[in-house]
Amino acid sequence: MKYDVSDRRIWFKGQILSVNDAQINVLAPTSQFGLNVFEGIPCYWNENERQLYAFRLKDHYDRLLHSAKLLQIECALDRDYLTKAFVDVIRANGYDENLSVRQTLFVDGFGSWGSEGPVEMFIAPIPRGRTSAEYNKTGLHCCVASWRRISDETLSPRIKCGANYMNSRVGHREALRNGYDTCIFLNEAGKVSEGPGSCLFIVKNNEVITPSLTDSVLESITRDSIVKIAKANNIRVVERTIDRTELYTCDEAFLCGSAMEITPILTIDRYKISDGKAGKITNCLHQLYLDIVTGREKSKKHWLTPIYDQK
Ligand SMILES: Cc1ncc(COP(=O)(O)O)c(C=O)c1O
Repeated sequence: MKYDVSDRRIWFKGQILSVNDAQINVLAPTSQFGLNVFEGIPCYWNENERQLYAFRLKDHYDRLLHSAKLLQIECALDRDYLTKAFVDVIRANGYDENLSVRQTLFVDGFGSWGSEGPVEMFIAPIPRGRTSAEYNKTGLHCCVASWRRISDETLSPRIKCGANYMNSRVGHREALRNGYDTCIFLNEAGKVSEGPGSCLFIVKNNEVITPSLTDSVLESITRDSIVKIAKANNIRVVERTIDRTELYTCDEAFLCGSAMEITPILTIDRYKISDGKAGKITNCLHQLYLDIVTGREKSKKHWLTPIYDQK
């Protein structure tokens, strides 16, 4: 059965039900303080195989459980349970299109920001056609945010929790207010960190460079995939601290993430990146990435989890 998106099935506290029937108490710590950890897990439809593939599901669960551990949101569910619930709810919708699946552990009940529980879960598949316009653009005009990225000493960007997105919000809203598509944050040391919902790469002299995992970034699964894909294709990759001025003089730049995949950056603070068009290496990595996530490229099939029974 295929449901309209407005009445899609979601997995909510152990049951599969209409999104309209899933209700969370307004006083719950997740509602009041953003006390939740979550993943946005991409799934890609392969028409030839008539199969839907979840991308790097195990790695998403590693990060989800690390986020939960750091915030002491005790998750009683094991990985097999997380996976089964994920597969069940997608199957319940009968989706045969690309998805972003939100899988969230949240603190429910009447407690406060210090509460340990009760910890509950929801899983909501979201067809990707409906992701934000920013992410569907073919190239981005970015600014450097005047706000700094949160740091490991205050609220670690390594934790993927709802509350961290308030830092993303102020930077992104500032960018929109000033006529840009989105922003790039500097960290507290004044070095380049990441976008509000994405990681950053630049290309200089045919070398692909991205900030280190200790430069105030989320441990992005797309970032890690790009590093591995580039290396496997003999493209040199360096993970190091990046200065702000390198943003303006690089040959290519792009943001990446499960939602935005690989999206070229055309200008930063109105400085044109090379000729202001998507670069060669960016386009090449983008194509390799799409071939892998959809299962067209077989060498990384171990990154894919099939959702439907194989014929
Ligand atoms: C702040 C931030 N950085 C990077 C990313 C990219 O992470 P991933 O590639 O795991 O989606 C995201 C997306 O969730 C994000 O919110």
